[in-house]
Amino acid sequence: MKIALGCDHGGFGLKATVLALLRELGHTVEDCGVMAGETADYPNIAADVCSRVASGAAERGILLCGTGIGVAIAANRNPVIRAALCSESFSARMSREHNDANVLCLGGRTLGPGLAEEIVRIWLSTQFVGGRHVQRIALLQE
Ligand code: RB5
Repeated sequence: MKIALGCDHGGFGLKATVLALLRELGHTVEDCGVMAGETADYPNIAADVCSRVASGAAERGILLCGTGIGVAIAANRNPVIRAALCSESFSARMSREHNDANVLCLGGRTLGPGLAEEIVRIWLSTQFVGGRHVQRIALLQE
């Protein structure tokens, strides 16, 4: 899968863990920065990653900031993005099964690497179940 990955300075440490896992799993990663932990404004990073998902250049996006909250708020401003902030595995699974989330948001200052890896693995391997959820997702775009 082609995945756009981005973070601000608050998510930079955890981004390395996520990037390594994505490559280990065989995904193609477009690393949208930040590249060296430099201070960045999370709305700009989120807009970059989300525009790649919206255009089809990437199938999914993963965003990190300190809490994951800022990037989630920013990502969901894009009308075709369904961004889910996940801090445990049940939400990661449900965000795919029921919400067909196309962007995952993680908190670099709230998650340890093991839990973050578990969330990413589940989020990438869980399919949307469709059915009654299709019409609910369609309502989000009205
Ligand atoms: C940056 O200090 C921090 O505010 C940001 O990473 C994020 O947590 C915002 O929601």
